[in-house]
Amino acid sequence: MRKLTYFIACSIDGFIGDPQGDATSMYRFVDAEFLEFLTGEYPETIAAQGREALGVTADNKRFDTVIQGRNSYQLALDMGITSPYGHLREIVATRSLTESPDGNVELITGDLVGRVRELKAEDSPRGIWLCGGSAVAGELIDEIDELIIKTYPQVYGSGMPMFGAGFEPRDFELNDLRVFGNGAFVRTYSRKR
Ligand SMILES: NC(=O)c1ccc[n+]([C@@H]2O[C@H](COP(=O)([O-])OP(=O)(O)OC[C@H]3O[C@@H](n4cnc5c(N)ncnc54)[C@H](OP(=O)(O)O)[C@@H]3O)[C@@H](O)[C@H]2O)c1
Repeated sequence: MRKLTYFIACSIDGFIGDPQGDATSMYRFVDAEFLEFLTGEYPETIAAQGREALGVTADNKRFDTVIQGRNSYQLALDMGITSPYGHLREIVATRSLTESPDGNVELITGDLVGRVRELKAEDSPRGIWLCGGSAVAGELIDEIDELIIKTYPQVYGSGMPMFGAGFEPRDFELNDLRVFGNGAFVRTYSRKR
């Protein structure tokens, strides 16, 4: 089975954005050192327009598939971009869209957990990136095998939680911690089953 990895940016207090999900206040921590880390280790997590601006042409390293909820995907649609991660296989969970806006985007309209289990069972050297947002991550919380949490040195006080899920402790093991000069850090955890 390949892994479902929730690779996400959050505040110190665990919010992935303001109450509407906007995380632009975190962008200023993506400085030269952090960008070198991202482009070197997770180039596929940089969206198409960022790749173009930064001249990123690296092959995908960790993931070959990205899953987004429709609200997260809508941010790209609002910019006129129908395939924000065209270098990956793109999957969008939605109950409202009936026709995919792009040939590279597969819609999941029915059994989200079942489709993710099928994807995990595929034979591939690369994993599946769960991009977010909160609602879809909450529904897939028990399918997540790995967490990669980019934490930026800001406290939000309130906002959009990492998971839109009910209370239940789930155990994870810390596998890696990277600390950056600007106070950001990136933790990698694997699910203890
Ligand atoms: N900080 C970060 O790294 C990060 C990363 C990603 C996203 N975000 C933020 O997260 C925010 C969006 O999060 P969100 O929680 O509002 O929404 P979301 O999880 O992105 O999308 C929710 C939508 O997904 C669809 N959906 C959910 N469960 C489904 C299921 N079981 N089957 C089929 N479709 C399903 C529904 O779409 P329909 O309404 O079409 O039915 C639902 O409205 C954005 O503002 C974005 O900026 C932050």
